[in-house]
Amino acid sequence: MINIAVLGYGTVGSGVVEVIQTNQSSIDKKAGKHINIKYVLDLRKFPGDPIEEILTDNVEDILNDDEVKIIVEVMGGVEPAYTYVKRALLSGKSVVTSNKELVAKHGAELLEIAKGKNINFLFEASVGGGIPIIRPLNQSLTADEIYEITGILNGTTNYILSKMADEGRNFEDVLKEAQSKGYAERDPRADVEGYDACRKIAILSSLAFGMQVDYEDIHTEGITKITKKDMEYAEKLGCSIKLLATSKKINHRIFARVSPVMIDKDHPLATVNGVFNAIFIKGNVIGDVMFYGKGAGKLPTASAVVADVVDAVKHLNRNIVSFWSTEKMSLMELKDVTT
Ligand code: NDP
Ligand code: HSE
Repeated sequence: MINIAVLGYGTVGSGVVEVIQTNQSSIDKKAGKHINIKYVLDLRKFPGDPIEEILTDNVEDILNDDEVKIIVEVMGGVEPAYTYVKRALLSGKSVVTSNKELVAKHGAELLEIAKGKNINFLFEASVGGGIPIIRPLNQSLTADEIYEITGILNGTTNYILSKMADEGRNFEDVLKEAQSKGYAERDPRADVEGYDACRKIAILSSLAFGMQVDYEDIHTEGITKITKKDMEYAEKLGCSIKLLATSKKINHRIFARVSPVMIDKDHPLATVNGVFNAIFIKGNVIGDVMFYGKGAGKLPTASAVVADVVDAVKHLNRNIVSFWSTEKMSLMELKDVTT
């Protein structure tokens, strides 16, 4: 048996508990051990909920318990998540997280700590919700020099743009709907201003190019200025408006950007609607690869988190994730891009 603890019992945290309970026997088989959730950390009370007995509001119960081998951080935000995760790794506990803010800011350092301790810091759910993208980049595309990553990386904004275009709905109403479905960030400005997609493209770029890409350096524009008129013009031109995140490696430097883009309706990204995300990767050997699936939501995201838990159990004392250097990748401006 292996004991794990889940930090945060919100949309993703409750999904993680549900996925483990629903698929317990097949998950245990794949992990090779029974996965036992020993604690759930949250500051709220959940009367009548099956987790009531394992609920704690004191993180010290978890961090000081040597029987807990894996921490699942699904609270969100940089602090106190960073402090808890770093302490957990330094004390020899592997960590799984869905927190892109944390990974984009401190990923390089946390990966290095995990490598030093021969444990794991895994973050599949931090990009693309339920879509496997971190693991393929780490384990399947290693023969290639990746030179471009372009994608729809935010479910909330894609949901809003799709509903505005297809149903003529207004921005605020659809945003409220996306929030009620558990797609949006706690502060939805992170979605609609493009910061969330920016953090995700920074993570993918850092992993693919092996050096730290700071999200603060990436030109980022969200969808708040898109109007119904823009949608009508796009329709007349045979185009869809999508929030695209892109990152290209050109002569040892990176051009990265997040912005709304008009794309021809024949392009595969134009047909990615609702909460779905899609990510194109271009490699010098493999050519184009596309990943597609639900980019947000309780169960798709929990599926990616729990897959990481299974990997962490299977490789309890063996580091399996390649890490990127803390050295910063220099970014170029649009005016410098000639290709
Ligand atoms: P929620 O806000 O629904 O859940 C977070 C939970 O953590 C809340 O219950 C919150 O409690 C609790 N929490 C926060 N801080 C603390 C703390 N210091 N101590 C104890 N409990 C705490 O967020 P989500 O589940 O939607 O997201 C979690 C993470 O996963 C975020 O990083 C998000 O970006 C990421 N993510 C989310 C996806 C989604 O579709 N929702 C998809 C992919 C990634 P309280 O409300 O009381 O503060
Ligand atoms: N708020 C994010 C989104 C959650 O809408 O894509 C998934 O990372």
